[in-house]
Amino acid sequence: MSRKAVITIDGPAGSGKSTTARTLARNLGYTYLDTGAMYRAVTLSLMEKGMPIEESDDLEELLSSIHLDLRYIDGEQHTFLNDKDISREIRSVEVTRAVSSVAGLRSVRQYLVAEQRQIARKGGYVVDGRDAGSVIFPDAEFKFFLTASLEARAKRRQKDLAEQGVEIGLDELKMELHRRDEQDYSRLESPLVKPANAFEIDNSHLSVSEQVEIMEKRIKES
Ligand code: DC
Repeated sequence: MSRKAVITIDGPAGSGKSTTARTLARNLGYTYLDTGAMYRAVTLSLMEKGMPIEESDDLEELLSSIHLDLRYIDGEQHTFLNDKDISREIRSVEVTRAVSSVAGLRSVRQYLVAEQRQIARKGGYVVDGRDAGSVIFPDAEFKFFLTASLEARAKRRQKDLAEQGVEIGLDELKMELHRRDEQDYSRLESPLVKPANAFEIDNSHLSVSEQVEIMEKRIKES
């Protein structure tokens, strides 16, 4: 590869996109762009202002006034909203519940897609999202689509939560993931799809390093 490429990774919730994207970016000396964090930041902003999740003049005004900024501290993406680090708040259960609906709003998507293109336009980014290879960067040099069974995704989520001291049953997690899948796949605005020319990897039975190895091989071979 001569110019630093844009690499996109899409897939449903719990398909391991963020860990994979972070690892791949580190191995290649690229920057990881977590686009989901930006949808979460807008969601938090709406919640803090007590605004309904719908298109409105107030929403347009909010989008034109907020200052969303990604900064990299010790190699980790931190999300700043109006100069406040909100990286932790955007992972709350409340934000996670509301974010799919916010991500369905056209004005929010238009605003964030423009920001994301601006951030990664020079290349050297691994972009993780739902529309990274289909809408944000349809001409990306490398596109991946990750999938895994509902069971495998729920088990991973359970393990991640247990590490944070949160115990949630597998059935509840499956239901939650299923609900988010339905919202992400069926929404009118930029639904989750396998982008044209994306390389699909079902990682139900792969470790992160096995999967990253497959991806790096594909990148280096082309
Ligand atoms: O990857 P995540 O769980 O942080 O994503 C949060 C939500 O944002 C999820 O419901 C899908 C949505 N999203 C999106 O619509 N487009 C993106 N590029 C990234 C995330």
